Amino acid sequence: MSALPPTIDDTQIWDAWLSQFKLPILNVCIEAGLFTALSEEALATAELAERLNVDARALSMFLAALCAQGYVEKRLNKWRATSLARTWLHPQGQGYWGQFLSSIDNNQHLRSRLSESLKTGQRPADVDERPSGWEKGSMPQKVAEGIAAFMQAHSQAPALGTARMPEFGELKCLMDVGCGSGVYGIEIARANPALKVVLMDLKEVAAEAAKYVSAAGMEERVSTAGVNMFEEEWPEGPDGHLFCNVFHDWSAETNRTLAKASFDALPSGGRIFLHEILMDDEYTGPFEAAAFSLLMLIGTLGQQYSLAEFKEILESAGFTDVRAARTGGGYYSLVSARKP
Ligand SMILES: C[S@@+](CC[C@H](N)C(=O)[O-])C[C@H]1O[C@@H](n2cnc3c(N)ncnc32)[C@H](O)[C@@H]1O
Repeated sequence: MSALPPTIDDTQIWDAWLSQFKLPILNVCIEAGLFTALSEEALATAELAERLNVDARALSMFLAALCAQGYVEKRLNKWRATSLARTWLHPQGQGYWGQFLSSIDNNQHLRSRLSESLKTGQRPADVDERPSGWEKGSMPQKVAEGIAAFMQAHSQAPALGTARMPEFGELKCLMDVGCGSGVYGIEIARANPALKVVLMDLKEVAAEAAKYVSAAGMEERVSTAGVNMFEEEWPEGPDGHLFCNVFHDWSAETNRTLAKASFDALPSGGRIFLHEILMDDEYTGPFEAAAFSLLMLIGTLGQQYSLAEFKEILESAGFTDVRAARTGGGYYSLVSARKP
């Protein structure tokens, strides 16, 4: 056996897959006229969206990705093109790279999806089966198996990082809501020997998570529950709810509903945890959050959120004491709040 056990840091792998967004982002923004507009004058996001005839929410994700890479900057709430962009990305400039970048970009699929979503603010109509299964509330077992395997790879290192957080040692029972393969709940249970964990997901995905629990030998303290979080009663008993990469699949409005459902099911003093890659509050980056947000834009109903946005969502449900800490697991942060 030559494989090594996972560590808490797999950021090089994340960088490899997120880097696929760099060229299409530039091409889509050149095509939309963004660098020309921001070379002429400084504009707020809403003003720029109107000028370019694109969706302001989608545009804010592109701007954050551009800003994190040094192509635009934000001052006093207005965006302007930097000298980097004005030198190399302005169609009237002697140094214009646009024609080259457009013809060298082989990822037409990603580019056309990003271009469409920038205009509409929605994911393109040809979305794959995964989100629609989530929205319908059921899916073929084979699709659930694929989701669990996909999420297991995606979440192994962040789960190990999160499991070290001391907050989980203060709980009796944690429910991992929208658990996927269950990797978070399993690792947190492993790190906290007195903790019980319930892995909750749609019934087909919960059945897959049960297989990961038994492969980990954690059946004594980790159970599963097949529950549609939007439509069915939530199991009672847990004093903590954990949502990892769940809020990023949904709109702020749906997240307010989810936060309220969690608030209602928790006892007084109970805790809610969100594990997400956070946008900064100014929406100027970081690149990893902005690129991940663009993935959510073209594939789900959601986006990556900032701590300020999560604070508003959680407080709207009644939670207090909202805070965030980096977990050391890749680019992730743990947002937490308390039911009074
Ligand atoms: C992006 S995945 C996150 C999985 C896991 N938390 C992780 O980070 O590895 C979102 C999860 O939410 C689950 N989900 C979607 N809609 C749901 C619903 N209505 N009720 C319960 N779970 C749902 C999906 O099946 C999926 O496992």
